[in-house]
Order: sequence, then C-alpha cells, then structure tokens
Amino acid sequence: MNSIAQQLKTRFEKAFTSAFGESYAGTDPMLAAAGNPKFGDFQCNAAMSLGKKLGKPPRAIASTIIENLDIADICETPEIAGPGFINLKLKPAYLEAQISEIAADTRLGIEPAKTPQRVAIDFSSPNIAKEMHVGHLRSTIIGDAIARILEFQGHDVLRINHIGDWGTQFGMLIAYLREVHPEALTTADALDLGDLVAFYRQAKQRFDADETFKETARQEVVKLQAGAEDTRRAWKLLCDQSRREFQVIYDLLDIKLTERGESFYNPLLPAVVEDLTNLGLLVESDGAKCVFVDGFTNKEGEPLPLIVQKTDGGYNYATTDLAAIRYRIQNDNAKRIIYVTDSGQANHFAQVFAVARKACWIPEDVEIVHVPFGLVLGEEGKRLKTRSGEAVRLQDLLDEAIVRATQDLEDRLVREERQETKEFIANVGRVVGLSAVKYADLSQNRASNYVFSYDKMLALQGNTAPYMLYAYARVQGIRRKGEINFDNLDAGAKVILQSDAELVLAKHLLQFNEVINAVDGDLLPNRICQYLFELSQKFNQFFEQCPVLKAEEPLRTSRLILCDLTARTLKLGLGLLGIKVLERM
Ligand code: ARG
Repeated sequence: MNSIAQQLKTRFEKAFTSAFGESYAGTDPMLAAAGNPKFGDFQCNAAMSLGKKLGKPPRAIASTIIENLDIADICETPEIAGPGFINLKLKPAYLEAQISEIAADTRLGIEPAKTPQRVAIDFSSPNIAKEMHVGHLRSTIIGDAIARILEFQGHDVLRINHIGDWGTQFGMLIAYLREVHPEALTTADALDLGDLVAFYRQAKQRFDADETFKETARQEVVKLQAGAEDTRRAWKLLCDQSRREFQVIYDLLDIKLTERGESFYNPLLPAVVEDLTNLGLLVESDGAKCVFVDGFTNKEGEPLPLIVQKTDGGYNYATTDLAAIRYRIQNDNAKRIIYVTDSGQANHFAQVFAVARKACWIPEDVEIVHVPFGLVLGEEGKRLKTRSGEAVRLQDLLDEAIVRATQDLEDRLVREERQETKEFIANVGRVVGLSAVKYADLSQNRASNYVFSYDKMLALQGNTAPYMLYAYARVQGIRRKGEINFDNLDAGAKVILQSDAELVLAKHLLQFNEVINAVDGDLLPNRICQYLFELSQKFNQFFEQCPVLKAEEPLRTSRLILCDLTARTLKLGLGLLGIKVLERM
C-alpha cells in the first residue's frame, strides 16, 4: 500500500498537469506535516515556487491547484492559508478504510522493495585473540537491525563477519605460546579467551623489547603464510578458541552471521597489487607500494598514501578490504555493500573506496557505504571502562543487564503482590535485560556517542525497551481479560474513528511504512525506535481515554482492532530491531 503522503502526491501531480500542462507533471508538491494540527494534517507548499515560475500571486496559484485537485475521497475541502499554503485535513472515513486495509495484511501494508537487491552487510567483525569490546557490540546490534530491516524489505542479505583473523600479530602470539604454553598450540581448549588476551599482551611486550624474539615472530608469519602445517594448526586452534567465545555472545543476542574473515582474502591479495600496478596506480614510497588519491592528507597536510604492500612484502588491512570489495562485487554480486564500524574508521573506508573507484572496480550500479557509529561512554562521559580501567567484557555487560532487569522485576512483583514461577522471572529478566541493551543503542542516532546507563535503559518510562514491551503486554492483557481471539475478530467489522485519541493513533499507525522506507534508504534504525515510542505513547493515551472492553458494539470491536494493530506494529517494529516481545511481564 502506498503511504498517505505518496497517495496525496499522486493526486497533486495530476492536478499540476491539468492546471499548468504536461511539463508540470513532475512538480514536487512539497508536502509537509501540518505545522499545527488545528489546520489539518498536511500542507502543500508548492504554490510559492510555482507562483514565481509562472509570474502569478501564490494564492491565485493555490486556488487553481485546488480547482484541479481531485481529492474529496481523502481530504476535507482544502483551505488556503497565509501566502499560499494549502492545508489538508484527512477524512475519518478515509482513515478508517486505510486502517482496515493494513489490519487485514500480515505485512501491515508495507510493500516489499520493488527492486530487491543483493546486499552485503559487513558487521560485528571482532578480532581473534582479542576480547570483543563495546564497539563490536554496537556494530553487532546496529548491523543486525539493518540486516533484519533489509531482509524484511525483501532484499537478499549477506551477513558477513569480517573477523580479524590474519596478520603479523599471529606470528607474535604463536612464537610466544611456543615458548610459554606450547600445549595451547596443539590441544583444543587449553586456554580460554581471557588467557589468550593476556598472552597476546605479553607477546606484544616481548615483541617490542626483544630483537631476537621479533625475528622468531617474523619467521612464524612467513611459515603461516607459506602454509607450514604446525603453524597453520596452531593458528586454527587459536581462531577456534576465540570463535567459540564470540558465538556465546551471538547466541545470547540471537545474531546470525556468516564468517568470512580476513584470511579468506589472503589468496586474492597478490592480484590486487598486480592489478593496481597494471593500472599504473602504484607508487613506491620508501620501499612500500602505495596508491595516492586526491583529497587524502596527513596531519602535516602532505598527501596520504594508502599502503597496499609493506616494505617486507606483507599486506595491510586496506589491501584485504580492497580484495573484499572485488569479491563482494564479482562473486557475491552485491549491489549494495554496507560496512558497520565505529566512526574512527571513516577515513580508512573513504580512502579504500576512493582507491577502488579510481581503479574502476565499483560499477555504477553498485552502492558502497560506510555506516559509522559513535562511542559508548560511561556515566562520567568518558569511554566505557571497568572500575579498574579495563575494557568492559561484553559477557559481563550483558549478564549485568539481565541481573538488574531480573531484580527490577522481582521488586515489582513484591509491590504488585504477584506470584510468578522461577521460569517466568528468568525469561522476562533475560528478555528485558537484553532488549534494554539493544534498544538503548539503537534508539540513539548512531552517529552520536551515547552514555551507557543501566538505570536509564531499564526504566519503565521513556524511550526504552521496557516501555515498549509494556505497551505490547498491555494489549495482550486486554486480550486475556476479555477472552478475545484477535485472529477471529470479525474481518468485515468496521473501524470507527470518533474521538481525537483514536484519530491520532490511527494516523500514526498509518505512518509505519514511510518510516521503514526511510530506514531502507538512510540506514538509521533510531527512526523506528522514535516511531515505536510515539506509537506507545499514543496508544497509552487512547487506552486512558477510550474504554475498550466496556465499549458498546460496534465500537468495541473497532477499538479491539486498533489495540491488536498497535500490538502487531510493535511486535514487527521491535522484531526488526532484533527485540522479542513478551506476552506478559
Ligand atoms: N576487525 C575490525 C575491527 O575490529 C573491523 C572490521 C570491519 N570490516 C572491514 N571490512 N574492515 O576494528
């Protein structure tokens, strides 16, 4: 179903043609939400610019438009205001019909994308032998939400985990473990990720201080790249160890990813350098092979090279990303490639994309974007750390959210004098805790930093997951109390929109498809959060002002339809954010 704005736009375009001729068919009606609900729902602001073009007073243009406008089935008679605004007020009968239509549709009136695309989303992407940190958590949550939204839109989404599983650090780590913990290189599970991280740190210290060790580490890298069996086995073991621990987090958060780490592109790296050479784009600088593109400079203002092969012959993070772009375009056939990382990597991606463009590796019909996000801050406004100043372990952070959500629930049960089973408490605590973490992240414009606060994210009031979940559970409460089966509501029952609260709720329900379409474009999931927040507020107002179960028929059924549609919208919207609803909480 077309959005209301879209339907209005079509009518205006017709009016422009009949009023001013074919050449005006494509004129933008400049529709906006009415500044003041007193004047209606929308306003058309096109008369001013058309007036200039046609050399006529805008108010005269506005009346010509209205004379040619066939819109009586949607709006009350349009009114002209001020210099030439056209105010439009939607008719309740029209809204009633639209609500019935979306209520009868499992997709709530949201049409899938007209041209489904293959989309590659590169997200999460932690590094082997390092802890997954909050930056990876953001990437995981935001990337998953974007994937869910695009999948719902009918796109064919590849969820790629570009794990940092290759590079000189492995030589260092393997050389060190051979010395201090050789069994870790031959036995699975000899270490956990915590140990691995500690060894990694020690190995790095050794590497920086000890020349002989440095040499040994280099040899390990060479052996690894040459495919020496014992080094390879050691490397694989280390990767498996980390992978298992990442998987615990993914399972907890219900995240699906296909691993395709940096090592995957290893065999493709020489061709990247060769092709850049043949294109005449490679420049040797201090023995390193570089590409220069306009517009990239270092702090001193000098041209900044993208190094694709180091003096010692090793390849870089950037080389792998160039190979990955080629692979995603040529082998995966991706038409849209999305990278979800912190904004600290914005320059890296801008430069890599620029080099790939210069090499003509990105066809016209392929869109490639970096989706950056800001930092997670502690309550004092600095980067989130533990009390002892270390990076927060994700597992601890999620566990803590669950513990606190469970505690909040137990307190509430005491206050409400309710008895619930252990299973109920554990399940609700877990869902609320994890939802709160996800929602707190997604509800911010991703570009900004945000303060991580358990108290705020778990609050029952405000733009939080618990508030949204509560609105959903409230509808299910009505269902249970009235012993209603929403699936069996009279399909032909008429929706009746009488009171203001009903009209306000209905209009909001009809905007969901616009929001989803906008997010398909700009990849800002916080739009969905804001929409759901307002929906919950409008529903709560409706519920306070309009009796539902006690209303007389046919109003009762109509209001039940609104309740159910609100709940289904919440469930769908939260689902697109990776959040599950609760029937009771
Ligand atoms: N492993 C990287 C990190 O932890 C993120 C990788 C992002 N994806 C990419 N294709 N470079 O920062």
